[in-house]
Amino acid sequence: MIINGEYRRTIWVKDGDSRLIQTFDQRLFPHEVKIIDVKTSEEAGIAIKDMIVRGAPLIGAMAAYGIYLAAVEFSGDDIITYLNERKDFLNETRPTAINLSWALNEQFNAIQGITSKSAIIEALLNGANKIVEDDVETCRMIGQHGLQIIEEIAADKPGEVVNILTHCNAGWLACIDWGTATSPIYQAHQKGIKVHVWVDETRPRSQGANLTSFELNEQGVPHTLITDNTGGHLMQHNLVDMVIVGTDRTTRSGDVANKIGTYLKALAANDNHVPFYVALPSSTIDWEIRDGVKEIPIEMRSADEVKYVFGKGKNGVESVLICPLTTPAANYGFDVTPARLVTGLITEKGVCAASEEGLISQFPEQKR
Ligand code: MRU
Repeated sequence: MIINGEYRRTIWVKDGDSRLIQTFDQRLFPHEVKIIDVKTSEEAGIAIKDMIVRGAPLIGAMAAYGIYLAAVEFSGDDIITYLNERKDFLNETRPTAINLSWALNEQFNAIQGITSKSAIIEALLNGANKIVEDDVETCRMIGQHGLQIIEEIAADKPGEVVNILTHCNAGWLACIDWGTATSPIYQAHQKGIKVHVWVDETRPRSQGANLTSFELNEQGVPHTLITDNTGGHLMQHNLVDMVIVGTDRTTRSGDVANKIGTYLKALAANDNHVPFYVALPSSTIDWEIRDGVKEIPIEMRSADEVKYVFGKGKNGVESVLICPLTTPAANYGFDVTPARLVTGLITEKGVCAASEEGLISQFPEQKR
């Protein structure tokens, strides 16, 4: 997608230096566009842990390059033991997004049976590049399928704007290109359908305010930033035609973990008969679990993210304390929306019910 009028992706191998991975420092958007160099597996892990990169598919891509960089930096006899250590390190950086372990497993599958260091390096670079290219196509396809839903809503209100509410950032900045939740929106916009996006601010890290607003603005998609508590009111007044969010992990029965506050949007949508869709690549499905509330690990993050707000003041970008210094704060990163509140899942294969039957109809190879 576009930043400052230029086509960009969120992660790439530097031209002419295959040992250097580059990405944007997403902590600085929208105030600054800064490119970060990632040269070691340690730096890849830090980029994920410190949220220089974030969003389930991009976390997976960075992990894939991280394990490639581990092979590049290794000097010794037992490269497989070293890669396994770095895999554990990378896997522990963020607990909720399943794409992280999925991408690392893909990479280990790609080097099965290979013994020479140079061949392992080559296979891991190709593997990471493939994860990136596949994600672009997957997100494009999610957009194609989600577009049909927007077209149906637009057909029911000719000439009027389709209002879509989203939470957190499940845009191209969370992926490589297109995004998941935003891909149908971008494709509808490109097709000339009048869309308008209600952007949840998404405290405490403000991914909606900082990232979704930024990327919609850059693509010229009409949008309005709202506080996290506004969605229910808008739905009661028929100002939301549909909700589309992303997910960090979806169970085989269709329960959906996403940024904290998503569940409350789903409850409000259900009460107001507003369709609530979740857009996801199949790499986000955890086929091993069914009960999202009981089985998905929820990341606990620093209390300071709640107690301080980060933004641009008179002296530039700064953090501001918003409560007594000694007030304790709890920072649950994600919540789980039960499948019963989800109207449909939009994957690269199409739109299906949020249920085991729905997902198996798209991915029959996962049937047990
Ligand atoms: O904590 P973050 O910013 O990594 O959380 C991101 C989200 O919750 C996204 O909505 C989710 O990863 C889907 S990304 C396409």
